[in-house]
Amino acid sequence: MSRPSTRPVNPMFSSGPCAKRPGWSVSALEGALVGRSHRSGPGKAKLKAVIDETRAILGIPADYRIGIVPASDTGAVEMALWSLLGPKPVDLLAWESFGEGWVSDVAKQLKLPNTRTMKAGYGAIPDLAAVNMAGDFVFTWNGTTSGVCVPDAEWIAADREGLAICDATSAAFAMEMDWSKLDVVTWSWQKVLGGEGAHGMIVLSPRAVERLESYTPSWPMPKIFRMTKGGKLIDGIFKGETINTPSMLCVEDALDSLTWAKSVGGLSGMVARSKANLAAVEAWVAKTPWIDFLAEDKAIRSSTSICLKLSAACPLEGEARDAAPGKMAKLLDKEGVAFDINGYRDAPAGLRIWGGATVEASDMEALMPWLDWAYGEVLEGRA
Ligand SMILES: Cc1ncc(COP(=O)(O)O)c(C=O)c1O
Repeated sequence: MSRPSTRPVNPMFSSGPCAKRPGWSVSALEGALVGRSHRSGPGKAKLKAVIDETRAILGIPADYRIGIVPASDTGAVEMALWSLLGPKPVDLLAWESFGEGWVSDVAKQLKLPNTRTMKAGYGAIPDLAAVNMAGDFVFTWNGTTSGVCVPDAEWIAADREGLAICDATSAAFAMEMDWSKLDVVTWSWQKVLGGEGAHGMIVLSPRAVERLESYTPSWPMPKIFRMTKGGKLIDGIFKGETINTPSMLCVEDALDSLTWAKSVGGLSGMVARSKANLAAVEAWVAKTPWIDFLAEDKAIRSSTSICLKLSAACPLEGEARDAAPGKMAKLLDKEGVAFDINGYRDAPAGLRIWGGATVEASDMEALMPWLDWAYGEVLEGRA
């Protein structure tokens, strides 16, 4: 196949940090409050604006708390696990690398005895109907390394006794989430918003706050995980008084991305942009015999981390087959057509293409013929 004539305008298809919003340049950061205290009036106002804009765009209920915390999504998830788990049995759901990381945190680091791990392999999802609603449960809304997401929040009981703790890093701002079914939700700016790493967001339901104020874990709590003082929630954290010093450059960038999110229609606009990216890949997969989605079931197929595998129609075998997606990714990187699209290191050999809201569907469409070209080059031994 000859080299396609049209290239994606933006070759950024990484699953994190993800593409900046269309039109972004460092000039977006000109208003950053650098060299000033984040606890000054203007500093706190910037941090509070991130919280307020986030609430408005995502439709987070007024009685849910929203905080900016250290250490990106990982920091946000771990502060939730360390602060909340213990009093009830815990179901831990995992179907790819990040979910498995939380299983390991709870089982091996916190060493909680009363846990059940519910696992599924790459491309599948555990039986959500079997999750124990009398206990707490931890799950990832979208498994970034397998491209499998929960279909919705229908499986979560409205009258659950436990807490629903959800890592929504690669889902927030690209997928609709029913807040009434969620007690803790976390993400980082570096994914769908195209923001920067380093800071995480944590959302707490009133029931999660109740747990924080009524239960003290038996283990020591590092300062950066501490959300309570003297048995009371530290309210300031949820008004922009961060636990420690944030990067005001990252904060400015988050504000810029939120302003952009509003300009494309808020949450529904962001969701539609991501769905359009998946649709572009689906149209190509439908007419391309050698490729398949890792998530065969459409109901659980991610529109953000779009994961593909070689199909039975691909004649390559053994090591050559395993190496093919990596070679394709390398070739497209060298061509400047697509960066960072090799599958995750722990996932089955394949391609992973970010389809979050900051990626233009026209770029996704332009990428597809290049995948055909790269496959041909690998098949014929030229790459
Ligand atoms: C589902 C999921 N959880 C957690 C993380 C870790 O996020 P961070 O590096 O922002 O802490 C990622 C990052 O890719 C992710 O995709």
